[in-house]
Amino acid sequence: MPQPGNTHIFLTGATGYIGGSVLANLLNHPKSDSFHITVLIRSEEKLPKFRSVGVKAVIGSHSDTTLLSKLASEADVVFACADADNLDAAKAILSGLQKRYDAKGRASILIHTPGIAVLGDNAAGKYGTETIYSDLNVEQIESLKPTQMHREVDLEIVSADQKGFVKTFIVLPSTIYGIASGPLVDLGVQHSHSQQIPALVKASLDRGQGGMVGEGKNLWPNVHVDDISDLFIAVYDAATKNQPTGGQVGHGLEGFYFGENGEHRLYDISKTVSQVLYDLGKGKSPEPTTFTEEELLKYFGGAYLGSNSRCRAERSRSIGWNPKYTTQDMLASIKPEVEASLSG
Ligand SMILES: NC(=O)c1ccc[n+]([C@@H]2O[C@H](COP(=O)([O-])OP(=O)(O)OC[C@H]3O[C@@H](n4cnc5c(N)ncnc54)[C@H](OP(=O)(O)O)[C@@H]3O)[C@@H](O)[C@H]2O)c1
Repeated sequence: MPQPGNTHIFLTGATGYIGGSVLANLLNHPKSDSFHITVLIRSEEKLPKFRSVGVKAVIGSHSDTTLLSKLASEADVVFACADADNLDAAKAILSGLQKRYDAKGRASILIHTPGIAVLGDNAAGKYGTETIYSDLNVEQIESLKPTQMHREVDLEIVSADQKGFVKTFIVLPSTIYGIASGPLVDLGVQHSHSQQIPALVKASLDRGQGGMVGEGKNLWPNVHVDDISDLFIAVYDAATKNQPTGGQVGHGLEGFYFGENGEHRLYDISKTVSQVLYDLGKGKSPEPTTFTEEELLKYFGGAYLGSNSRCRAERSRSIGWNPKYTTQDMLASIKPEVEASLSG
């Protein structure tokens, strides 16, 4: 049985690119000896591998809302790193945390993972916006329409914080890049590739030519996978320690933490992909061409890669997060991503 003073952590998305990287950081945390970590996974065969690193894995999915709620009700801290847009799953986690509060009289912590697509516009690659969001600017975040991507779940979570039974922290990564590494990748249980750049690479390889949405003028920030997993730990550390001022670190409405360290135009990525493909004899030209409507649907399910989502991670930096990798590193990560795609 866990001893008093120990921290019960429940994490979803442990086999994922983000969740696995966060879990690896938790296993390496200075206080890891006091952690009792439970993860929800969908694959029976990965269970013993999690056990081998001291993590209790439970088989289930977001559809098992009773199980999700039960696991949350046993946790001091929940990291939700799986599907950001599953409202039923978020409600199940919150109901478990409400039960824990009713039983213990103490609010647990929920660290949820959507993304800065919530800031997105409809630029379709035609222009770069002047609008830049700051995670310190509550009013600006509040002005986001409830119909924006991820927003429905984020609003449910903030509302739970306002009811007082949970302290909520919402970590919003931008374009995450870099091939994940660490013990869970070595064990073969964690996805090691991100979403946007690998999807762009796969589409480009398939059509034999780098591509972009519209003219690729839209702007997005970027963040390395190691830096974003550090941000989760910075938020965890800040949320679990008493602040020197005696106050509390921002949560709820003030609990949005952006993850970015520099930005790019979509064209910059598309041009680099095109150049790498061309140099490797896999692309027709070193210049990207515009994806057709059909291609956007086929490869990405729509034109979201053409939106602007500009932001500054000022609150994240204010709690001591210190990202190291820059936009240059993001562009340099594209060649290994193309090579991995070709060899996979
Ligand atoms: N990668 C990025 O650049 C980025 C940026 C911003 C936001 N995000 C968001 O962050 C979240 C995680 O992204 P990721 O890149 O880590 O994705 P990923 O590598 O595909 O990982 C997703 C994780 O969630 C699990 N999962 C998915 N659906 C589930 C379900 N119904 N029940 C239980 N577990 C489920 C997956 O389990 P299995 O292994 O069983 O599939 C996996 O562990 C997503 O919501 C994504 O949209 C990602």
